[in-house]
Amino acid sequence: MEFFLDTASLDEIAAARKQGLIDGVTTNPTLLSREGGDWQEQARKICDTVDGPVSLEVVGTKAEDMVREAEHLVTFGNNVVVKIPMIAEGLVATRELEARGIRTNVTLVFSAMQALLAAKAGATYVSPFVGRLDGIGQSGMEVVSQIRTIFDNYGMNTKILVASVRSPNHVLEGALLGADVATVPYKVITQLTQHPLTDSGLEAFLNDWKKLTE
Ligand code: E4P
Repeated sequence: MEFFLDTASLDEIAAARKQGLIDGVTTNPTLLSREGGDWQEQARKICDTVDGPVSLEVVGTKAEDMVREAEHLVTFGNNVVVKIPMIAEGLVATRELEARGIRTNVTLVFSAMQALLAAKAGATYVSPFVGRLDGIGQSGMEVVSQIRTIFDNYGMNTKILVASVRSPNHVLEGALLGADVATVPYKVITQLTQHPLTDSGLEAFLNDWKKLTE
């Protein structure tokens, strides 16, 4: 399973890269607006820093506007993946962009049928938002499981990118279900490395070693 970092923060990207923990980055308009400043400059810097795919999202809602924005976004780096919202116009844009060799990530996916439509349009990635589904009392992971089954049934190559991750458990369940990628906030990436028994075990080993050598 690949790990993407769900952020527009260069500091978070630098920290996660140092630990060798990320294969790519996903941003969205909210994450970029949180950073403030010139979003284009920020997005270009992210593309320069990250070796793997960087998802940058369009904000148009008409297919022609999305395609025009995508043409601009891909000038930021050859690792850009264009995020397209899962609406009817988005499917038109996805089909056209993929036909031109521009990779897409269909975002704001909340059902397996939406994912199937995105895959039929040729999307490189689909992003089911598991945390937001859990937040309204539905099961995000059930949707991921359904998408996995459908894609396997028909040999579809579109990658399942688990998004809106809230906890290490979302990453674990995504991995068990065979999702291709999880895009993870920095806080959750940090939690993935930790376990209280590791900390107490290490403390005991170090104390015992001190007793032996003092
Ligand atoms: C995915 O690419 C999105 O950026 C992200 O996971 C959105 O999740 P949220 O529910 O934390 O906003």
